[in-house]
Amino acid sequence: MTHLASVHRASEQLHVTFSDGEREAFHHLWLRDNCPCDRCRDPAAGERLLDTIELPADLSPTEVAVDEGLVLDWPDGHRSVLPAGWLWEHSQAGYRAAGRREQLVLWNAATIATDPPHISLEEIDADEVGLRRMLRMIRDRGFAIVHDVPTRPDAVIELAERIAFVQESNFGRSFEVVSKPDPNNLAYTSHRLYSHTDVPNRHSAVNLQLLHCLENTARGGESILVDGFAAARRLEAADADAFDLLRTVEVPWRFRDADTEIHNRFPVIRTDARGELVEIRLNTGIMAPLDASPELVGPFYAALRRFGRILRDPELEHHFRMEPGQCQVFDNQRVLHARAGFDPSSGRRHLQGCYVDKDDALGRLRTLERALAGREQLPA
Ligand SMILES: [Fe+2]
Repeated sequence: MTHLASVHRASEQLHVTFSDGEREAFHHLWLRDNCPCDRCRDPAAGERLLDTIELPADLSPTEVAVDEGLVLDWPDGHRSVLPAGWLWEHSQAGYRAAGRREQLVLWNAATIATDPPHISLEEIDADEVGLRRMLRMIRDRGFAIVHDVPTRPDAVIELAERIAFVQESNFGRSFEVVSKPDPNNLAYTSHRLYSHTDVPNRHSAVNLQLLHCLENTARGGESILVDGFAAARRLEAADADAFDLLRTVEVPWRFRDADTEIHNRFPVIRTDARGELVEIRLNTGIMAPLDASPELVGPFYAALRRFGRILRDPELEHHFRMEPGQCQVFDNQRVLHARAGFDPSSGRRHLQGCYVDKDDALGRLRTLERALAGREQLPA
């Protein structure tokens, strides 16, 4: 249990000392804006009622005290009580601690082989702990391989629905990865596919991809997964300029067939304002002509070559053969997938796939974590 030891004023902030000696500063506006009382926040919806926009710029509490939490009286007579545990969780140190807990586990061929993220459908179905285990694998390492999924059509949809909702796309509610005549996509051929992400042309890329093996008697066709974030960090360390080009040059990605044409411009590597990796988009099969200035073309292709070769480095590639009943579930914004070419005359290779939005999947994980931890729900 977190408690507060003391509080004192320092200009626009309050300096709070927690019972374990940790000291944290909180701005007056931040404290007022996060008042959890029923007048400031709808108790049922949990959403803010308080008008953030019209908070006076120079707002400062008239009285400050420490009790069960931080007790603040404001000039208009309003009283806010912020629980000590909530304050700790939302302090800068608390955010750093949470960030450490959620840190991605970057992997390569050797490290993933020591503890491959495999799980059986039976374990997922047994209780919520099993489902949480699979979702943690996907959150931390970017993929999970589920075993013993019945080899019947649409079993993949049932697995997707255990996670969240199936996301339909122009490829349908689900899609059949088989070699077929007149394909509208290279996946539907027997060609080798280099490491790629799917649908980089979509603004709201469908993020989790499920690929369920129904049949695999064809010679060849081994599957490969690569941690795109580990590869991007390797590129950054080896060639910061190349990393920066792939982060800043927007590539036009375009899919079109008889019924649809979806295109958007996005860089190959996307980072957020703090420099954290957000996503990898790479599928040269649907890279439309680059609309960058000619001076940029050479350096861009050099950067792409460098990144592509890192992605094809056997040290990073996790190779395996999909057996009937196995289903890959991977984060398409992080983990690239590939397959070796296969000989369609030697047997059949049939995968059925579908997509789930990552926000829904991670949302499911957070509610499971909350329910399983039995924690009291506090204002987010
Ligand atoms: Fe693909």
